Amino acid sequence: MGYLKWLGHAAFEAEIDGVKIFFDPWIDNPMSPVKLEDIAKADLIFVTHDHGDHLGNVIEISKKTGAKIVAIFDLCEALKKECSSIECIDMNIGSLVELDGLKVAITPAFHSCFHGHPAGFVVKGKETSIYHAGDTCLFKDMELIGEIYKPEIALLPIGGWYTMGPYEAAYAVKLIKPKIAIPMHYQTFPAIKGSPEEFKKHVEDLYPATRIIILKPGEKIEF
Ligand code: NI
Ligand code: MN
Repeated sequence: MGYLKWLGHAAFEAEIDGVKIFFDPWIDNPMSPVKLEDIAKADLIFVTHDHGDHLGNVIEISKKTGAKIVAIFDLCEALKKECSSIECIDMNIGSLVELDGLKVAITPAFHSCFHGHPAGFVVKGKETSIYHAGDTCLFKDMELIGEIYKPEIALLPIGGWYTMGPYEAAYAVKLIKPKIAIPMHYQTFPAIKGSPEEFKKHVEDLYPATRIIILKPGEKIEF
């Protein structure tokens, strides 16, 4: 059985088909239920972009566990300069590859970054498929991501400062049509005020077929 656990902010830990993955593991975030010392195993670490609240503890976790970092080409180049011992799998927008038996697509995100281009990921295994949107605004091609990759679970930022807010994220749900959507990237600091209850309410109006699960940091869903 697999699981998806929220580690606060945009950080998630999951196990799909026995492969242990992390998205944007900023474990030092103020909402994090775990400490770096608690992380013993990781196979793949997906990094959407290189802002500090996403790059977080990526290098430390990779060094400690031997996990491969998956990111956009230019960011991989920068990370390898910073730490030559890490293994980085570089991709670019539009790539669809197989890693450790999981299908991985890198999707566009509209945001900013220091290296390359901001991105999202769809990670698909037998047990489930997860779309982590990264930091982004709402964009119409989310509809294509939904149609082509059919993610069962969508992780969407709702903070409303730096990214989509609750209404835009609910509209994204309508475009992506996942079975489950989980809000993230809100209330970690005062600026990102987005309310998960407001997000849920908008989804009930716009696309009630999707179930909204509001996780507390440290909570997980199983599949
Ligand atoms: Ni960012
Ligand atoms: Mn961010």
